Amino acid sequence: QALLPPGHVIRPLSKTDWIVRDNTSFLSTLEVLTTVGKISYAKFQERFDYLKQHNDHYYTIVIEDRRRNEQGSAETDLAPLGQGKIVAAGTVVVERKFIHELGKVGHIEDIAVRADQQGKKLGQRIIESLMSIGAAVGCYKVILDCSEKNVPFYEKCGFERKGVEMGWYV
Ligand code: ACO
Repeated sequence: QALLPPGHVIRPLSKTDWIVRDNTSFLSTLEVLTTVGKISYAKFQERFDYLKQHNDHYYTIVIEDRRRNEQGSAETDLAPLGQGKIVAAGTVVVERKFIHELGKVGHIEDIAVRADQQGKKLGQRIIESLMSIGAAVGCYKVILDCSEKNVPFYEKCGFERKGVEMGWYV
């Protein structure tokens, strides 16, 4: 937490992060990546419950800005935990393999920092946390796919180019 801007916390996704506060929510944060579409609170909670039941596979974290205004960061200026603005998010999915003696691989997915919050190291903090989770649960490597323009960002986070990404869209 010490490396985050004042009033910011990094924490697991919560079941109420669907709720829109100050025009921000978890789902609207993901819109910097691609189309999210309309997802009802019930459907969000259904997906959340699935992830929760598989919480040794899926680790989704968010950065919450608890400040009620840009200036304030004293405890009295902060919204209760869970009631601030979601400004960044990311996931690591832990794959169980047979190779490497039943090794585990972490796959980093859906890294998103709200457009007006980019360049403040929030993305880097999300990646560092996901790398720590991967290491803590015993992954022998953590990998990800990204576009060419994001390569310098991931290199700053300690990743290096490996192989070629391929895709098949149904
Ligand atoms: N080119 C060069 N350097 C970059 C870039 C870039 N495109 N993006 C960040 N950096 C550098 C920063 O300058 C900083 O360097 P410094 O330590 O020398 O100051 C360092 O990387 C860390 O940058 P952050 O401030 O942590 O970056 P930010 O918070 O803006 O997050 C991110 C980066 C996640 C790419 C964000 O811009 C974003 O959400 N973009 C839109 C969505 C996206 O592309 N997500 C990634 C998809 S890939 C995936 O999910 C696996």
